Amino acid sequence: MTSVEAQPMTFGPGGPLRGTVAVPGDKSISHRALMLAAMARGRSRIEGLSEGADVAATAAALGAMGVRIERTGAVWSVNGVGTGCLLQPDRALKMGNSGTSTRLLMGLIASHPITATFTGDASLCRRPMNRVIRPLSRLGANIAAAPGGRLPLTLRGLCPAAPLVHRLDIASAQVKSALLLAGLNTPGITEVIEPVPTRDHSARLLRRFGADIMIEDGSIRLRGEAELRPQHLHVPGDISSAAFLAVAALIVPGSELRLTNVGNNPMRTGLLRVLAEMGADITLADERDRDGEPAADLIVRASPLAGVDVPPEIVPAMIDEFPILFVAAAFAQGTTRTSGLAELRVKESDRIAAMAAGLRAIGARVEEAEDGLTIHGSGGGPLAGGTAIASALDHRIAMSFAVAGLRCAAPLTVDDMTPVATSYPGFASALRSLAA
Ligand code: S3P
Repeated sequence: MTSVEAQPMTFGPGGPLRGTVAVPGDKSISHRALMLAAMARGRSRIEGLSEGADVAATAAALGAMGVRIERTGAVWSVNGVGTGCLLQPDRALKMGNSGTSTRLLMGLIASHPITATFTGDASLCRRPMNRVIRPLSRLGANIAAAPGGRLPLTLRGLCPAAPLVHRLDIASAQVKSALLLAGLNTPGITEVIEPVPTRDHSARLLRRFGADIMIEDGSIRLRGEAELRPQHLHVPGDISSAAFLAVAALIVPGSELRLTNVGNNPMRTGLLRVLAEMGADITLADERDRDGEPAADLIVRASPLAGVDVPPEIVPAMIDEFPILFVAAAFAQGTTRTSGLAELRVKESDRIAAMAAGLRAIGARVEEAEDGLTIHGSGGGPLAGGTAIASALDHRIAMSFAVAGLRCAAPLTVDDMTPVATSYPGFASALRSLAA
């Protein structure tokens, strides 16, 4: 594995953030758009695709399996091979840091007659894969993983696979999507039962590509051997990236930002609801719907924030936003309590531990439980800062502390900003230019 040299970066107090910014394309939608375009027969065009390393890993893997993907200016074209027509890769598929690429591609390949080895970086090799290994084995795939159900692993797909009825035992859009992708090339109906709703980008896009998909009371049924039609898609900006700039604008006095064309899917906007409850001044403008996904501009003005109790029901709709919510809470008046966050311990890092350690290091009062944090806010004033923060190979930890640094009395140093390239390569320069 090639290791990239760590890139420490310092973030400290400065002027208000002002301006208009377009955040990168939604990462979740981008992975799925590439995979479904690959399964359609003919050329799809995609605009607004995420240009982070995670989506590049998905594109490279599809390329290794015979899908030609090219970029001309802002438009990506994908020469889809048709359902079931991926080719045997002649090398291991390098997934880098990307859990979504890994789990979704495992599903896609599971119903193809091919064998693929998945490798990843140190963070990805620690993440649990049994959640997809178990159901994909039931449909007939043979998977040999490292101890504990981890990467590296080799998956031998089966064609035809057996259609599955699977009830999710954890709230996971990745597992749901892996099974639906496996169902595309499986005869009959694949059914996923989802007790707790999670992001629905796969279902929206499957419908868009012409798949026969039925959704009712938490059951998603997909008719297999689907013939997908190529599409011209526009991917909205990633709310999970916009979240960092939004919180930066909220906590730095005098700030006002307009974040354009941000995905506004209700299964992703839990953070906006919690911030509104905390007193944040965020308004939506120019609400629109494009290619089956809602989007809007977010206008964010610096606001005094108050602590809240975050209801566990909202967790799936903001699962990736807790690190930056914790930062907002650390600068609020009063206490914020969160629970039901056990999944955060198996993300790109243990996000509960990483955030607790970093927030304490900059002077916040934090109590850590197995499934959440309680944070006693600064009352709106700055925290001390003046320390080094470990980003733990996790883009969202790195970006969270970059934002926190803007409201500290003394600058803090994030030990390594390279992980940010997985989702938001231009983040640090966007932050700098907005503060200039
Ligand atoms: C994602 C689902 C979530 C999320 C991840 C992206 C997706 O993971 O944390 O960043 O695109 O399906 P889980 O399915 O593990 O909750």
